[in-house]
Amino acid sequence: MAGALPEQELAEAPGIAGRSILVKVPATSANLGPGFDTLGLALAQYDELEVSVIDAGLEIEVHGVGAGEVPLDDSHLVVRAAAHSFARAGYALPPIRLVARNTIPHGRGLGSSGAAIVAGVMIAKGLLEGIVEFDADRLLELATELEGHPDNVAPALFGGLTIAWTTPEGPRHKKLIVHRGVSPLVLVPEHEMSTALARSLQPEQVPHEDAVFNVSRSALLVAALIQSPELLLAATEDKLHQNYRAQAMPETDALIRALRAAGHPAVVSGAGPSILVLASDPAERAEAAALVAERAETAWQALPLAVDFKGATVHAA
Ligand code: HSE
Repeated sequence: MAGALPEQELAEAPGIAGRSILVKVPATSANLGPGFDTLGLALAQYDELEVSVIDAGLEIEVHGVGAGEVPLDDSHLVVRAAAHSFARAGYALPPIRLVARNTIPHGRGLGSSGAAIVAGVMIAKGLLEGIVEFDADRLLELATELEGHPDNVAPALFGGLTIAWTTPEGPRHKKLIVHRGVSPLVLVPEHEMSTALARSLQPEQVPHEDAVFNVSRSALLVAALIQSPELLLAATEDKLHQNYRAQAMPETDALIRALRAAGHPAVVSGAGPSILVLASDPAERAEAAALVAERAETAWQALPLAVDFKGATVHAA
C-alpha cells in the first residue's frame, strides 16, 4: 500500500452523527493472463461491512476470514483507506464502529487487500453522502492511490470485466459485460503468496517480441471474454509475468500447465497462488476441478464463482 497523507488540519464532517451504512465488496481476479496490471474480473464472493458513526473511539469486529489475525485498531486496512478518503476530502474520519464479515481469502490472489481498500473508500462515500461528491474517477483514484495499481480495485468498485489504465489526470476504467457462457472457476491453495515478492521477481525490461505477444493476447482476451469464449485458451497466453513468478509458486505453475495442456484456459489469479480457469460452461469447470483434485499434491479448494456485475455497493443501514 502506498504511503499515508502528510499530517494536516482536518475538519469534522458536519451532520454525520448517527449515520449507519452497509458496504459490500466483491472478490476480484486481476491480470487474467496477458492483461498485467490492466484487466480484472469481479467475482461473486463478498466482504460485507456494517459501519456506524459513534460518539467516540474506534470499535472493530471481524468475523470470518481474518478474524483473530488482522489488527483491530487504526492500522486496520479498511480504516486506513476510509481515513485516507476522508482526509482527501478535507475531513477527519469520525469515531466509528465497524463490523466486517469477510469471505474473500487473504494472500491468495483474489483481491482481498483491494477489497479492503475499496471498502474504506465506499465507507467515505456512504458516510459523506450529500456532503462530498465521489464520482467514479474519484473513487478509482482514491483506491489506486492506496493499492498502487488499478487492476483489482477497478472491478471491485464497478463489477464485470474492467480495463484500467493510468493517465496524467489519474487512473481511468472501462467496464465491459462478460459473455454469459464464461464460467469462472477459482482454485485456492492453503498457502499464501506475497504480491510484493511476486512483483520483485519480474525484470525491469522484457524482449520486444514478448511485449508484442502480450499486446496481441490482451486485445484478443477482451474479444474472447465479451463475445467469443471459444478463443479463451489462445487469449490467456502470457509472457510478461507468470513465467518469471513460477519459481515462487511451483505447484500453481505445474497445475496451470496441466490444465492448459488439457485445453482449459487457466491462469494465475492476480499475483497468485490461486488459479483462475475461464471455463466456457459448467461441465468444463467440473472437468478442470477434477483434474486439479487428481494432480495436486496439497489441498486446493475449488470455487465455481459467477461474475459479479454490480461491483461495490453502499447504502443506509
Ligand atoms: N497486477 C497485480 C500483480 C495484481 O500481478 O502484481 C496483484 O495485486
